[in-house]
Amino acid sequence: MQIDGKVVIVTGASGGIGLATARLLGARGAKVVLAARNEEALRAAETEIPNSLAVRADMRKAKDIRNLVERTVERFGRVDCLVNNAGQDLNAPVEAIDSDDYRSILELNLIGALEAMQAVIPIMRRQGSGAIVNVSSGTTKMILTGSAGYSSSKAALNHLSLVARAELAADGIAVSLIYPYITDTDLEKNAIGADEHSIASPPSGIPPADPPEKVAEAILSLIESGEAELSLIPRRD
Ligand SMILES: NC(=O)c1ccc[n+]([C@@H]2O[C@H](COP(=O)([O-])OP(=O)(O)OC[C@H]3O[C@@H](n4cnc5c(N)ncnc54)[C@H](OP(=O)(O)O)[C@@H]3O)[C@@H](O)[C@H]2O)c1
Repeated sequence: MQIDGKVVIVTGASGGIGLATARLLGARGAKVVLAARNEEALRAAETEIPNSLAVRADMRKAKDIRNLVERTVERFGRVDCLVNNAGQDLNAPVEAIDSDDYRSILELNLIGALEAMQAVIPIMRRQGSGAIVNVSSGTTKMILTGSAGYSSSKAALNHLSLVARAELAADGIAVSLIYPYITDTDLEKNAIGADEHSIASPPSGIPPADPPEKVAEAILSLIESGEAELSLIPRRD
C-alpha cells in the first residue's frame, strides 16, 4: 500500500516507536490518528504532525478502542491502516509472575490488539483493502530468563496475526508482524517489574539498541510491501 494520503491509526503514539512511526508516516503524507493515554504527549504530537488527530485511548478498554475507530471514521471517513504498537513489558521469572500483572499485560499486548483489529476489519473489508501491522518482539524468537510473561503475550500475538493474515487475504487486507530488536525507548522504564529484573541495558558483547526511527522505517516498509513478517534481530554471521 502506498502511504501518501492514507488514514493510519497508530496506537502507543505518545512516545517511543509509536511516536517515531507517527512522525514518519505523517512526513510521508499519511493522515495519522494518534492513540495512547498520555493526553499531553498526544496533543504535542498532534500539533507537530500535519493532518493528525489525537484520541485518548486506553487500549485495555474495549469502549476506548471502539471510540478510537469511530473518531477516525468521523474525521477522515475511512481506515486504511492500523499499527498495533501500544505495549508494555513484564519482567519476572515464571515462578514470580503475578497473575494480575500478567492479565494486565495480556489485556494490552494481546486482547487490545485483537479488539483493535476486530474494530477495523469490517471497515477495511468494505473498502476492499487495508493493512494491519502488529508490533511483536524479537524476544519471541529467544529464550530469555525473566521475559516469559511479556514474550508469551507477544508470541500469542504472532499466531493471532499469522492466522488473521490467512483469513483476511481474500478481502485485500494484509496483516503483518514486526519483530523489533532492543530499541532505545522507555519500554523498560515503563515495564512492570522494571527495577527487579530489567534487561534495559543490553549485556556486553551484543549489538547496541536500535533507535526507534529504525523500527518506524521497518513498519513503513511492511505497510508498503504487505509482507507477513519482518525481523530486526541482528544476524550472527
Ligand atoms: N523497546 C524495545 O526494546 C522493544 C522491543 C521489541 C518490541 N517492542 C514493542 O514496541 C512497542 C512500543 O514500545 P516502545 O519500545 O516504544 O515502549 P514505550 O516507550 O514504553 O512506549 C509504549 C507506548 O505504548 C503506550 N501504552 C502503554 N500502555 C497503554 C495503554 N494501556 N493504552 C494505550 N497505550 C498504551 C504508551 O503510551 P501511554 O503511556 O501514553 O498510554 C506508549 O506510547 C511495544 O508493543 C513493545 O512491546 C519494543
